[in-house]
Amino acid sequence: MRIGIPRESRPGETLVAATTVTAAQLVALGYDVVVESGAGVAADQTDAAFIEAGIRVADADEVWASDIVIKVNAPDADEIWRLQQGATIISLMAPGRSPKLIEQLQAQRVTALAMDAVPRISRAQAMDVLSSMANVAGYRAVIEAAHEFGRQFTGQVTAAGKVPPARVFVVGAGVAGLAAIGAAGSMGAVVRAFDVRPEVAEQVASMGGEFVTLNDPAMEAAASSDGYAKEMTAEQEAATAAMYDEEARNADIVITTALIPGRPAPQLITAETIAQMKTGSVIVDMAAANGGNVALTQADERVVTDNLVTILGYTDLASRLAAQTSQLYGTNVVNLFKLLTPGKDGQLVLNHDDVVQRGITVTQDGESLWPPPPVPVSAGPAAAAPVARPEPVEKKPVDPSRKLVAAALGAVLFALAAAYAPPDFLGHFTVFALAIFVGYYVISNVAHALHTPLMAETNAISGIILVGGILQVGSDNLAVTVLALVAVLVASINIFGGFLVTARMLQMFRKD
Ligand SMILES: NC(=O)c1ccc[n+]([C@@H]2O[C@H](COP(=O)([O-])OP(=O)(O)OC[C@H]3O[C@@H](n4cnc5c(N)ncnc54)[C@H](O)[C@@H]3O)[C@@H](O)[C@H]2O)c1
Repeated sequence: MRIGIPRESRPGETLVAATTVTAAQLVALGYDVVVESGAGVAADQTDAAFIEAGIRVADADEVWASDIVIKVNAPDADEIWRLQQGATIISLMAPGRSPKLIEQLQAQRVTALAMDAVPRISRAQAMDVLSSMANVAGYRAVIEAAHEFGRQFTGQVTAAGKVPPARVFVVGAGVAGLAAIGAAGSMGAVVRAFDVRPEVAEQVASMGGEFVTLNDPAMEAAASSDGYAKEMTAEQEAATAAMYDEEARNADIVITTALIPGRPAPQLITAETIAQMKTGSVIVDMAAANGGNVALTQADERVVTDNLVTILGYTDLASRLAAQTSQLYGTNVVNLFKLLTPGKDGQLVLNHDDVVQRGITVTQDGESLWPPPPVPVSAGPAAAAPVARPEPVEKKPVDPSRKLVAAALGAVLFALAAAYAPPDFLGHFTVFALAIFVGYYVISNVAHALHTPLMAETNAISGIILVGGILQVGSDNLAVTVLALVAVLVASINIFGGFLVTARMLQMFRKD
């Protein structure tokens, strides 16, 4: 079958549905691929590069006459009429919000597969274009904010004065929010984040952010069972309003990503809060396409308020990194084609028994199959039943005079040991004290989950004992020989056992 990759018709669109790499991967699956001349230029994919990769470049008519056409944006009415009857069109379609598009696809008797309808199940992650785009957009939101912001993100102490790090507040810690937390943190900002799903607190911490917790009983009910956010109740809105106000006022940069599937974006940052924000602060409202999380957002616009707060409502953040997003989109498409081409023979076969294939089918040969049967998604762990927490035990502060006595006692003992111990004692003691410090700082900077493999690996230090033991085994003194043998045995158990434990631990993280 022939796959056509046309030039995107939406004004200003920079993306292309296949790069030289992904087009070649489609060819490897047995397809004949043809790209419209100039389709990839804005994403750094020139005609010459396609030709060099063995891909044919042709005019629009030939591309649109293909058996399968792959686009990024949904086809408009003119494009649908250019499709052959019985052809297959694959693109983003937002089918739930596009009844007219479905009618047009039916009228042309085509099969339409929506890339944005891939069910959010683990198996389908490799085809999930929404995640790919949200990830790039989250990163780009930080770049846009940094571009507008009049200071550096990282704190510095220079001869010309001290620069505090920028404070970034991220609302919503889904795919886009986590990418924004990671990007802002890596630029040196202090990042705080909030999400109505408390289970993402750990993910926020793993990206270097601090999760803002609300100790309000109303928020416990916000944890959803399927891993996605639910619309907030009036009680929850009241519980979060003061927090949003305080966090936004303290922040230099606010990045909002809060969305609820199938609903308009919740409005979380009010005009009153914006009026109290610092001069020069920047808000990037990533929910702008769905109505926005911020009161004064205008989709695709840059708004500057009277108190000089800049609000960016750009909806094309992923397209602003065209080469990267096109590559990810193209790879998601290739992964879909691996599923749709079981024979690797260039023949697309749709199997509706498969939830992924059924989930993305909007029309087939002119018949509407939308909406598909619901797929149970599990985006996160179900909320655990509340566990009775023991009352925190208040620690008694240690009497400072006791600390002083202990320190003095330690100093006296050390002085006595230094005076009477063999001369090389001080050297050994210094190494010992340094080892404690270095060990403490190394271990406290490694994630808890990796402590066991780390400790198992450090057992290899017992190799020193092993070498020492082997050197002493041939001693004339029987006691030394026995002790050396015991040392060799114990050190060997430590070393080989350590590697065995590490291998077993790492096996648990491996995906087959
Ligand atoms: N294939 C898969 O398994 C798959 C694919 C994509 C995402 N996911 C998971 O799904 C979850 C949501 O992903 P997403 O990025 O598409 O979400 P999304 O774009 O629908 O929403 C963004 C975030 O906004 C949060 N939010 C909603 N209302 C809020 C409010 N009032 N205040 C603060 N935050 C609010 C949501 O909890 C979510 O984390 C994530 O846990 C993600 O890891 C799974």
